[in-house]
Amino acid sequence: MSKTALITGITGQDGSYLADFLLRKGYRVVGLKRRTSSICTDRINNIYDNENLILKYYDLDDASSTWNIMLETQPDEIYNLAAQSHVRVSFDIPEYTLQTIVMGTMRLLNAYKTLVPDARFYQASSSEMFGDNPQVPQDESTALSPASPYACAKVCAHNLIRNYRVAYGLHASSGILFNHESPRRGETFVTRKITQAAARIKLGLQDKLYLGNLDAQRDWGFAGDYVEAMWLMLQQDKADDYIIATGETHSVREFLEEVFNHAGLSIDDHVETDPRLFRPHEVPVLLGSPEKAKKVLKWEPKIKFQQLAHMMYESDLEEQEKFKRSIQ
Ligand code: NAP
Ligand code: GDD
Repeated sequence: MSKTALITGITGQDGSYLADFLLRKGYRVVGLKRRTSSICTDRINNIYDNENLILKYYDLDDASSTWNIMLETQPDEIYNLAAQSHVRVSFDIPEYTLQTIVMGTMRLLNAYKTLVPDARFYQASSSEMFGDNPQVPQDESTALSPASPYACAKVCAHNLIRNYRVAYGLHASSGILFNHESPRRGETFVTRKITQAAARIKLGLQDKLYLGNLDAQRDWGFAGDYVEAMWLMLQQDKADDYIIATGETHSVREFLEEVFNHAGLSIDDHVETDPRLFRPHEVPVLLGSPEKAKKVLKWEPKIKFQQLAHMMYESDLEEQEKFKRSIQ
């Protein structure tokens, strides 16, 4: 009989790639989405008609619906991806950010422990938890030093997973994922903001791109590669925590140059910095060591920095060309 996977945050970047991946593996996928006033299922349109995909409404803030879904679904694997995931925004809405990440995870964990303790649980932890710790590369033993309400919340959820794993013998793992991007990346994260703006500038739909700190460095991988690592963690005999990263770091400026050079655009003509886009507390450099994941999970990132930047730009160019035709 096929396994059932429960995914919170299926409408997000990672949720959509993970659903693609698990459906290809023959899973029955129960995807949880919240009700919004407009349709926000673009990222899962490609699998909408798949008979093994079941979509249910829920909200991380709603304890009884979490409980009911766990009872009805009886999942073999639970992937907790839902969150208010924007670091800059977490400074503006810290309470909501903590509510979704800390209490949302807590609710899910409790329902899991009580109703389906033999299932396996994946928690979306983040490299943001290393914050302003200057030690690089970061590995599983690097001290956490969160530098935003988002990161503080992720540290708490991360600790809850470890606590439940040890206290109750649950198979609950955390993936400490470094930044991962794709053509499905949210439009307000810096890589997608750059590739979308470059495509629009190229087509004459926009003139300026405003950015914040260009010196921040990130270890950027491809989301499609990273969801495989999530699944691999749940196939191990023992639950554990793993860093998922490429082992390369690049500045925002380098990503910008890669995309603008590829597009044949001048940064001087089109890009300006805006102090409002700087963060109250920045994470200067993230660089992960994926050695443990390579050794234990036999996982390797396939898509590298340059290929990722070009893939995202080309996808945005295609999308913006369609948009331009639609308004002509
Ligand atoms: P994303 O695109 O922002 O997706 C977030 C998902 O969470 C969306 O489906 C969103 O639903 C859902 N959500 C937000 N608030 C909710 C609520 N109150 N109740 C129910 N669902 C809610 O994020 P992502 O990039 O896929 O990341 C997935 C997870 O990995 C997140 O937990 C993120 O913090 C973590 N993470 C991401 C990265 C990265 O680089 N991408 C790295 C490390 C960790 P709507 O579609 O309705 O908004
Ligand atoms: N969003 C954004 N917008 N970031 C900018 C901009 C801008 O206009 N200009 C410069 N940056 C810089 C930020 O200051 C940050 O240093 C870097 O670009 C990356 O920002 P984001 O793309 O917003 O990602 P993030 O690193 O803050 O967070 C992402 O990765 C985390 C893992 O490390 C998110 O996906 C988090 O959910 C995830 O946990």
